[in-house]
Parts: sequence; structure tokens; C-alpha cells
Amino acid sequence: MPIPDSFLQELAERNPIEEVVAEYVPLTKRSGQNLFGLCPFHSEKTPSFCVSPSKQIYHCFGCGKGGSVINFIMDIENLPFRDAVEFLARRAGLTVPDDGGDPGRGRRERLYALNRDAARFFYEQLVAPGGEPAREYAARRGISPQVLRRFGLGYAPDTWDSLIKAMKERGYTERELSDAGLVRHGRGGGLYDAFRGRLMFPVIDVRGQVVAFSGRILGEGEPKYLNSPETPVFSKSHQLFGLNLAKKSKSGYIILVEGNIDVVSLHQAGFDSAVASLGTSLTPEQARLLSRYTQEIVIAYDADEAGRKAAQRAITLLDKLELRVKVLTVQGAKDPDEFIKARGADAFRLLIEGSENHVDYRLDTAKSKYDLGSDEGKVGFLREATGIVASLPSAVEREVYGARVAELCGVSDAAVKSEVARVRRRRSAAERRTLEREQRPTRISQPQLKSIAYKNPRSAAAEEGVIRLMCLDPALFRSLEGPGEEDFSSPELWRIFSALRRRTESGESLSPAAMSGELSPDELSLLTGILQKPESVANGTRALADYIGIMRAERSAPPPSEEGVMEMWERMKKEKRG
Ligand code: UTP
Ligand code: MN
Repeated sequence: MPIPDSFLQELAERNPIEEVVAEYVPLTKRSGQNLFGLCPFHSEKTPSFCVSPSKQIYHCFGCGKGGSVINFIMDIENLPFRDAVEFLARRAGLTVPDDGGDPGRGRRERLYALNRDAARFFYEQLVAPGGEPAREYAARRGISPQVLRRFGLGYAPDTWDSLIKAMKERGYTERELSDAGLVRHGRGGGLYDAFRGRLMFPVIDVRGQVVAFSGRILGEGEPKYLNSPETPVFSKSHQLFGLNLAKKSKSGYIILVEGNIDVVSLHQAGFDSAVASLGTSLTPEQARLLSRYTQEIVIAYDADEAGRKAAQRAITLLDKLELRVKVLTVQGAKDPDEFIKARGADAFRLLIEGSENHVDYRLDTAKSKYDLGSDEGKVGFLREATGIVASLPSAVEREVYGARVAELCGVSDAAVKSEVARVRRRRSAAERRTLEREQRPTRISQPQLKSIAYKNPRSAAAEEGVIRLMCLDPALFRSLEGPGEEDFSSPELWRIFSALRRRTESGESLSPAAMSGELSPDELSLLTGILQKPESVANGTRALADYIGIMRAERSAPPPSEEGVMEMWERMKKEKRG
């Protein structure tokens, strides 16, 4: 059962889009009534992301994404429609009307509640008399009681069923415990606690919900950490340990480390923006998540070869999102935790301030791959290093790093400089070709969304015009038959038009929020894009007739593309027969 329009509309009124978006994206007024900012959905340097308080929509002229406040939350919080509605309802203190709709949602809510209760249980065990072993271990690792509480760390007692018992008492079923990954099935079919005798780190998402656990053994032993499996509320590749706290940091950067212990230890030393990627190497989803909260990442991985390799991979991902990346090496210690314990917070701060920007780091890594004593090695290194230098946007930087490369291989500055220039010329020629390709006339009238392509751009332009008129002046259509499905070349545009028309005729709401319950996110993005283009209603009747005229003419004279020729052929055959 769908959520009623009236509720969606109230939801949108109580969550003005300009306020909601501003919590994620800094917006400034640039022209007219619209607000502009940097698009959170693709990387860009000049703002093309626009929020219209009067229309209550957002639209990005760069990537084509757009829609109502509900679509915005779906995109930015990565939530399905119903969860986004729930999210906004919570924000505004509303209750979503009951529905038997998404059967998964109620189940997920139960798992969130179960995880939260389990975290509370583990914390209680930690502070209870029986929590001595864990408290002692934490003390040995130098973790203070305040920090234990700030992270909600806990203790899973070394028994077989304390969690099971406690959670059953609270009304959770065995099935739910199993779905949350908190229990294991024994051979005889019985259940036992999955986490036993461990220091428990709850993984808390950016919305503040406990989604999983990571449990460290107290002392030596295998496995060192035990993590929750993938569950309906937890996908390891999408979460970062500590981000719930780091996202609130005022430091201006996020420190990326390997270990949970590093995160806790850094927070305690005053670095409140440390996060860890839960034992995987950084995933593209985690990188994207980071890019929502900061523009600068300080990588502080372990000092070993594995840490170095992982840093290299992370740099590649973060570069793509145009985040500033610094890499810091904790020399003389195995990881940031050990470094801080040995040298103190000030020494670590100096490391951050002086940490190599990634150009140095990449040049060093390239250097370590070649034997610079041999000519062959020098040539290999030069080729790789000039590639790195050529990609730097600033001429000064190219100069500085070019000179470093020259020095490293014992060749002249001028030689490196001309090689860098050659690489840059070659690259910009390639870029120009791509740009030209992208700006061919038929592409201009294509929607920016990659998921939708118009078969007939000329007709689609007219179809878009019809849709704009439908929104601006529905009265134009009152006594009009058509246009009908057969007049539309784009199925998406037809879906949008017919939804608008049906709603107008039955007196239903045309508000973007109400429409987002009916149209897909792609269709809504298409619609917001269409509404951004100018249209005048002054000559509405005339314009509408023209648009429909074009659509019908295009339909009877399809473009002589391969497809078009086939269609024409088929039609001629039919006409002959008829
Ligand atoms: P580390 O072994 O470096 O752990 O693994 P750590 O947190 O720094 O702990 P200490 O200082 O050695 O006590 C880094 C991360 O990899 C994941 C955990 O998320 C850990 O924090 N990991 C490690 C696992 O998931 N399983 C393991 O068995 C080990
Ligand atoms: Mn470690």
C-alpha cells in the first residue's frame, strides 16, 4: 500500500528542501531565488547543484540528478524510498501512516533495535563486576573509561549464552538473533553466542544506529578480531568504524587508519576524526562516504609493506573523488596507536602537519620499484615519474617536482621539463577529442543521466516542452485529446506526462514529493531537469500545438538511422497490405 500523497506533502512541507540540503551541502544564493552549491553526487569544482525553494526541488546541471527532498535523502543517505520517508519523518517529528508495504522494513527496524540492546548489554557487562578481564585489558592498552563510553565499547562475557538469554528476555526471537549475526548454530541445532570473551566495538552508522560489532580477543589468540557477518542492516564495504564521531569533527580532515584500536587511541589523544575501514582495504563506497564529510584525507596506515600497498590503492580511489590526500608514515612504530603511546600526541600532530602530500609519496613509491643505478631502471622511473608530474594542475608544482625527478635520475631539468610538456600535450589532445565527441549535436539534447537515452532527440525536445506546459498551465490540456502514448518517442517522458495528466484530472497533488512516490528516481531527475529549462506560457496554446506537431511529424518521418529505416520498411509493408 503506497504512502498517501497527503502525508508525503506534509512531510515535504515540514522538511523544506533548502534546509535539509544545507545540512549536507553548503549553499549560497547566486542568482534569483535559487541556491547553489557543489554537487554531492559527482565531483566538481564550480557549483552546478541548484536548489529551488519555490519549486521545492533540487537539480544538478552537471550530472542531471534531481528530485524532491525525498529523492535527495534517498541519494545522499543511500536509502530506499520508504526508509527515506521514515528518515524525514523522524527529522520532523511525524509518524508515517501504518502500511503493510515493505515487509523488509519492519524487520530491519527490529535488527537495529536488537543491535542497540546488544550494545547496551555488552557495555553493562563491561562495567559490571564480571567485566574485570575486559576492563583490565582496556587499561593495559591505555584506553580510558571516558573513551570506552564514548565509543560504547563493551564486553562479551566468556560464556555460551549470556547474550542469548538477555535478548530473549527482551522479546527478541532466535531467528532475529541469528539474522543479526549475534549467534551461531551448534551441531546439535542449539544456539550459542557468537562473541565470547571479547572486547566489543560497536559499528555505528552515520545515522547513529548500531549496525554491527567487531570483537577483539583479550590478549593473544586467533582470530584477533571477530566481525559481524553481512546482515540486512550491515554491509562491511559501506561502513567505516568511527565515522559516526569523525563526521562531527571540526578538524577539517579525516584520518584513515587500519585498526579499530588506532581509531580509539587517536580519539583519546585528541584526534577526533579518525576512522578505520573494518579490516578491508578501502572500498569505493567507503571513499564516497568519506567524500561527503571532508575534502581532505590523511592516510595513517601501518608502517609495513601491506600498509604501504593499501595506501597506494586508497590514494587511487580518493584521487578520483578529487579529495586532497596526505600520507603519513609512522616511523619507528608499527601503527599510529604505538606511535602515539611512544612519542605522544604532539609528535603525531607534527606528522600530520608535515605529512607528505601524495605527490612525494607517489614519486617515492615509483622510485622503490626501479633500480636507479641502471639505465633501464632510470628510463622506467622517468616514464612513470613524468606521468605523475604531468598530471599536476599547477605549473609551480610541476616545476618543483620535475626538478626533484631530474635530480633523482641525474638528468637535466630541461630534459624532464620537455618530457612533461610532451605528455601534457598528448593528454590534452586526447581530452579535446573526447570533449568534441561529447558535444556532437545529438548529444546536446540528450538527458545528462547516463541511464536514459533518447532515441529521437528532436521529438524528445518537443515532448519535454509538452511536459513543461503541463506543469505550468494544465488548463491548456483540458479540452485536448492527446497527445497519447503513440506520440511519445521516449517511454520515460510518456510515463512522466501521463502521471502528471492523470493527477491533474483527478485533482491530485503535483508536488515533487508526492510525485516521488509514483515516479522512479531517474524519471524524477529527468523531470526536474526539464523544469529547469525556460518555457513561456504566454503563447501556450500555440506552443503546445507546435510541440505536438513536431512529435507527430517525427513519428511519421523517423530519422534515417538504421533503426529508423527498418521501422519505415515495416510500416510500408503494412500499408501495402492494408
Ligand atoms: P590489526 O591487526 O592492525 O588490529 O588489524 P588493531 O586494531 O590495530 O589491533 P592491535 O593494535 O593489533 O591490538 C586492523 C584491522 O583489521 C581488522 C580489524 O578491523 C582491525 O582493527 N581485522 C584484523 C579483522 O577483521 N580480523 C582480524 O583477525 C584482524
Ligand atoms: Mn594495528
